[in-house]
Formats: sequence, structure tokens, C-alpha cells
Amino acid sequence: MANPTLLILAGDGIGPEVMNEVTRIIDWFGEKRDLKFDVEHDLVGGAAYDAHGTPLHDDTMARALEADAVLLGAVGGPKYDDLDFSLKPERGLLRLRKEMDLFSNLRPAQCFDALADFSSLKPELVAGLDIMIVRELTSGVYFGEPRGIFEEGNERVGVNTQRYTESEIDRVARSAFELARKRNNKVCSMEKANVMESGILWREVVQKVHDEDYPDVELSHMYADNGAMQLVRAPKQFDVIVTDNLFGDILSDCAAMLTGSLGMLPSASLGAPNADGRPKAMYEPVHGSAPDITGQGKANPIACILSFAMALRYSFDHGDEATRLEKAVEKVLADGARTADLMGPEGGTPISTTEMGDVILAALD
Ligand code: NAI
Ligand code: MG
Repeated sequence: MANPTLLILAGDGIGPEVMNEVTRIIDWFGEKRDLKFDVEHDLVGGAAYDAHGTPLHDDTMARALEADAVLLGAVGGPKYDDLDFSLKPERGLLRLRKEMDLFSNLRPAQCFDALADFSSLKPELVAGLDIMIVRELTSGVYFGEPRGIFEEGNERVGVNTQRYTESEIDRVARSAFELARKRNNKVCSMEKANVMESGILWREVVQKVHDEDYPDVELSHMYADNGAMQLVRAPKQFDVIVTDNLFGDILSDCAAMLTGSLGMLPSASLGAPNADGRPKAMYEPVHGSAPDITGQGKANPIACILSFAMALRYSFDHGDEATRLEKAVEKVLADGARTADLMGPEGGTPISTTEMGDVILAALD
């Protein structure tokens, strides 16, 4: 059988710096664990604009649609701030998400014990935390029509429409239940069915998908405002949370900060499964291109490395190898390895991007 293909789009700023460490780790899995990927590299964002005058070349788009998974670094930078909207680096990213139809956005909030002091919550509330927010990404109030600012009598009115079809809810619910089966078989769905019809439909469809096809998964429902309270009160009660685009935007940012630095946060965006059951997928760190530290060897590569671990688990069914990589990250943090963004008030000497890659590779060995 052919090796699975991995398309790497390193992008701009610290994107290529952190991706460099990931490619070393991919090589390690090829050599030591016999996990071979056909790795391709291409351009996105400002790098693609510089080369082709567009933030995503059509050929790159075609390669992304064919790849088994896309791994993206980051896009953007001050050099591109004055470009026309349609040429901005972010447009490359948006085009990938749209044309791959990545409707399910996975944002883990995972707290490594060694970093529990970084949380804004008490360390005991977050130590060992490992939850996953599944946010619907392609519909809801950010896309619903009508939308706009209209004249009404002698004043203006701003309008957005929260809109979900049954099939849109159905597919993101399935994606959450599938994930739950690869984790701890537990899903909490959040909406506001008490005040929104779209929430009533959301709750009905999620329950129906559960009852028909995933009765083995434990399902609960919660109003999203209560969910926000529970997330900061006792986050460890959750495993997988599934919610709409707007609530997911807010709840995922909130959950992410339970665990500390931006340099630690991975993400995945999944689409429809193909013939062999593998979803279209793009994996990327949550952080941006960090122009303030670009070229200084200061970037923390862990967010991007953990994004690759997510690819191993959710695209390639190598949950055991994903765990191996996550354990290696956990070990180096426990041993005190810190890039500059992870320095506490007590100070110390930070290690570089490459040195962080070195110690993680050593921990893997
Ligand atoms: P940013 O995430 O790039 O940086 C925010 C702060 O966090 C900076 O101080 C940066 O040095 C630090 N930081 C980020 N990642 C880090 C890492 N791995 N290790 C250590 N420190 C890290 O967000 P910002 O500054 O708002 O945006 C910079 C550029 O990135 C802009 O052009 C923006 O449009 C773009 N951006 C791109 C994203 C993407 O590609 N998905 C997401 C967010 C922003
Ligand atoms: Mg947000």
C-alpha cells in the first residue's frame, strides 16, 4: 500500500521555524517506528504571495484536496498588512478551510502537570486536564442570511442570522461521537435550546444521531452559558464538548486559556470522510506567525508538534503513537525544558526552538 501523503504548508514568520522541528519528528517516526509518510512541501500565505502573487496557488489547493492530511504553520506578517483584502495571507488559510469543507474544528485543552502553575485557575483544577472542544466551523451566525446593516425608519439595524440545517448539525455531531470513541466515550453538547429555535433543533438532532448510531457514547446536554461557568469551575468533568460556531469560538478560547501559553495549543479541522473513512483534515497550531520573535530561535514548537500528534490520532489511527509523542512532550516539560514563552516569574534560562526539538527527539528515543 502507498504511504499516506502529508502536505506541509509552513507559511510565514515562525511557521517554518516550528515546522522544521515537526519534520524532524516525522522523520523519527519513519525511521524508528516504521511510520512512513510521503511528505510534500508547498507555499501558503505571504510566502505564496511573494512567489506567485496569490496567498494560495490553485496547484497548492489541488494538492491539499488530494493529501491525506495538511499540516499548516502560520500565515501573515506586517509586510503584508497593506495588501488588498483578497490578497492577504489569511485568505489562503480561509480558502483551504472553505474548499476542503472543514466543518469540524477541534480545539483541545490539555494541561501538562509541569505547566499547571501557568493556568489562571488553581493548579489542582487543571492538572491532568484533557478535554476537546468540537466547534462547528462553516455555518451558524457567521454565515447565515440575511445579514447586514440596514436602514429601518430613522435609524440603522445590524442583522446576523443564526441558521443551522439538520444535515449541518448531523455531520458535526457524528464527528464529535467518532472522536469520543477514540477518547473516553463521553460527549456534552452545548446550545441555548431554552431561548433559541436553532438550539432546539441542535439538541434534537444530536440526540437522534446518538440514539441511532452512537448509543455506546455517554451524551449529555448543557446550556452554553452554564457550560462556560462549568468550564472555569470544574473543567475536568468534560471530555468532548460539541457546540456551534459562535459558542465554540468563545468556549474554545476560554478552555484554551485554562492551560497556559499560546505556544502549546494545537488544533485540527476536519471535513467529510473519504472512501477509506479518513476525514479531510488540516492540522495547525492556534498561534499566528509571531513577527515579534521571528528569526530569533525563540518560538515554542510544541503547538505545532502536538498538531502532528493530533494528525497521527485522528487521520491515521495511530493513537498509540500520538500518545508516545505527547508523553515525550510531557517528559521534557517535567524535566524543566522551557522555551522563552514558558518562563515563569522565577526566571531561568530558556532553550531555543531547535533545542526543544532536540530534547523531544531524545525523549522519544
Ligand atoms: P501571534 O499568535 O502570532 O502572536 C501573539 C503573541 O504570542 C506574540 O507575542 C508571539 O510572540 C507569541 N507567540 C505566538 N506563538 C508563539 C510560539 N509558538 N512560541 C512563543 N511565542 C509565541 O498573534 P498576533 O501577534 O496577533 O499576529 C501575528 C500575525 O499572525 C498577524 O499577521 C496575524 O494575522 C497572524 N495570525 C495568523 C494565524 C494563523 O496563521 N492561523 C492566527 C493568528 C494570527
Ligand atoms: Mg476566537
